[in-house]
Amino acid sequence: MAASESALDVVVVVGNPKPGSRTRQAAELVAERVAGHPADEVIELADLGPRLLGWGDEEVGRAKARALAADLVVVASPTFKATYTGLLKLFLEQFDAGELAGTPALPVMLGGSPAHQLAGEHTLKPVLVEIGFSCPTPSLYLLDSEWDTSPALAPWLEQAKRTLGVGSQP
Ligand SMILES: Cc1cc2nc3c(=O)[nH]c(=O)nc-3n(C[C@H](O)[C@H](O)[C@H](O)COP(=O)(O)O)c2cc1C
Repeated sequence: MAASESALDVVVVVGNPKPGSRTRQAAELVAERVAGHPADEVIELADLGPRLLGWGDEEVGRAKARALAADLVVVASPTFKATYTGLLKLFLEQFDAGELAGTPALPVMLGGSPAHQLAGEHTLKPVLVEIGFSCPTPSLYLLDSEWDTSPALAPWLEQAKRTLGVGSQP
């Protein structure tokens, strides 16, 4: 049976040091199109900044708890030097191995060039899996110049919904 869209608690994690970015917009679009409603929470890692440099920070703990409680997490980053950002890595390092216990994650990356279109698959997804997310879809890579008009977007969204069992008639 297909999962109910309205029941999905969807959290977006944005690993861009610049807040309010296209990366955030793309991640929110993905969350809304897949879940059928806007993200329940957006975690802008830029807001946590240096708090991510240590262990046990209260705000970081709250962000972690929110991701741990979600039904679905959209993990988004711009491509920096052929991989996801150091900011996102600092957050992901806050989780123990396997801690996400199978929570589905959708990796989303924006980049300026098609040269790094496998960055999500090759660099971000292994780390997500290490901390326990399941990644049931291919990573989504969007050129920053066409993040909302890319021809890759609609088919990827359909595949994601089908894979997650949301959005189809019972
Ligand atoms: C420090 C830095 C490194 C970057 N490295 C790459 C790269 O290796 N490959 C690439 O395709 N784009 C690269 N870019 C371009 C960004 O990925 C692209 O502009 C970004 O995804 C735009 O997202 P935003 O509007 O959300 O910031 C880099 C940008 C910056 C600032």
